[in-house]
Amino acid sequence: MKIRKSYSEQETEAIGFELGLLLKDEIRVVILLDGELGAGKTTFAKGLARGLGVTTIVNSPTFTIMKKYKSKDRMHAMYHLDLYRLEGEGTDFDLEEYIDGNGMIVIEWPYQVSSFLPTDYLLVKIIKLGDTEREFMMECHGYPCKRAVQLI
Ligand SMILES: Nc1ncnc2c1ncn2[C@@H]1O[C@H](COP(=O)(O)OP(=O)(O)OP(=O)(O)O)[C@@H](O)[C@H]1O
Ligand SMILES: [Mg+2]
Repeated sequence: MKIRKSYSEQETEAIGFELGLLLKDEIRVVILLDGELGAGKTTFAKGLARGLGVTTIVNSPTFTIMKKYKSKDRMHAMYHLDLYRLEGEGTDFDLEEYIDGNGMIVIEWPYQVSSFLPTDYLLVKIIKLGDTEREFMMECHGYPCKRAVQLI
């Protein structure tokens, strides 16, 4: 487990960027972003995408459930899911319906679907400590994020 702190939106994006760089060559990694409204989940996801080499605009997929991004060199993909609107959907959610290849899978509001949790994942818990102060708790459950969490 690793704890990092941020005092600005830019710093949050930078931590995401670092993690994105560390994980970009993994074939598949699931990152769960947990935190209240406005905690900084989407900001962090933007940093992750930049770390993979995505140069297009990354914004919240709130109205689409999933948005897919490709890095400029086409070597890396990021699937960005926001499950906020699935509240109360019970157990009826299959991640594989949204994923059509390898890459990084980033999920905001992962606990909206009661039974949903992949077996291996990296949990990033964001705690809002003040207007601009945030704490990031990063915890690797299973392979392949152990090394990244040690290094970040
Ligand atoms: N240290 C910080 N890190 C990230 N965002 C910050 C920070 N300080 C202030 N902010 C502000 O908090 C907001 C974070 O928005 P963001 O969309 O990233 O949150 P979110 O967790 O994805 O929210 P939602 O639950 O609505 O999806 C932005 O308005 C940003 O400017
Ligand atoms: Mg968001």
